[in-house]
Amino acid sequence: MRNPGDAAENQAGLSASVPPADGQAYRDAMARIVSSVHIITTDGPAGLAGLTMTAVASISDRPPTLLICVNRSLHSGARLIANGVFCVNTLTAADQPLADDFAGRTGLHLDERFGRGVWEKLVTGAPALTSALAVFDCRLVEVKDVATHHVLIGEVVAARHAPGGVSLTYLDRAYHAV
Ligand SMILES: Cc1cc2nc3c(=O)[nH]c(=O)nc-3n(C[C@H](O)[C@H](O)[C@H](O)COP(=O)(O)O)c2cc1C
Repeated sequence: MRNPGDAAENQAGLSASVPPADGQAYRDAMARIVSSVHIITTDGPAGLAGLTMTAVASISDRPPTLLICVNRSLHSGARLIANGVFCVNTLTAADQPLADDFAGRTGLHLDERFGRGVWEKLVTGAPALTSALAVFDCRLVEVKDVATHHVLIGEVVAARHAPGGVSLTYLDRAYHAV
């Protein structure tokens, strides 16, 4: 009989194991999923903030609605919720340095991260990156706390996209241009 945590090869040659309590097997499997890289911004009474994020998903086009997942420990997440607005900026490969700035990898915090890039405002006042592949300006309609994260549901009040461009993606814990 197999014990929990034992690795095994199934017929397709996939490595199968029961995830340990710390979620390492889950994180390793999620690392095999290619994701677009986005910068989520906000502005309003609670202040300017932004962070790099891959956890963005479409919910519906009637009305246009999407969700993002923000770690509950993050300062920028608190500002997103307090301001009640956020903008999803989907990055091109050329904007990879911004992804590092907004992930805190260059030591910048909150509003300091907006030094690079050209930003404008659409409807909500959350900063929209002029060079983004796609932009979704959202009003926050619901917050649900699930495990370690806030799930923020936004109604899209303005959207735009660039006709071409190379996408910045994340796979195997590294950036790739697609
Ligand atoms: C490629 C990439 C994807 C990320 N995706 C998420 C995400 O989906 N949700 C999240 O909460 N943090 C994500 N992060 C981490 C945040 O960008 C990082 O913790 C950031 O510094 C948070 O900003 P803050 O500390 O000012 O709140 C990601 C980081 C990288 C590099």
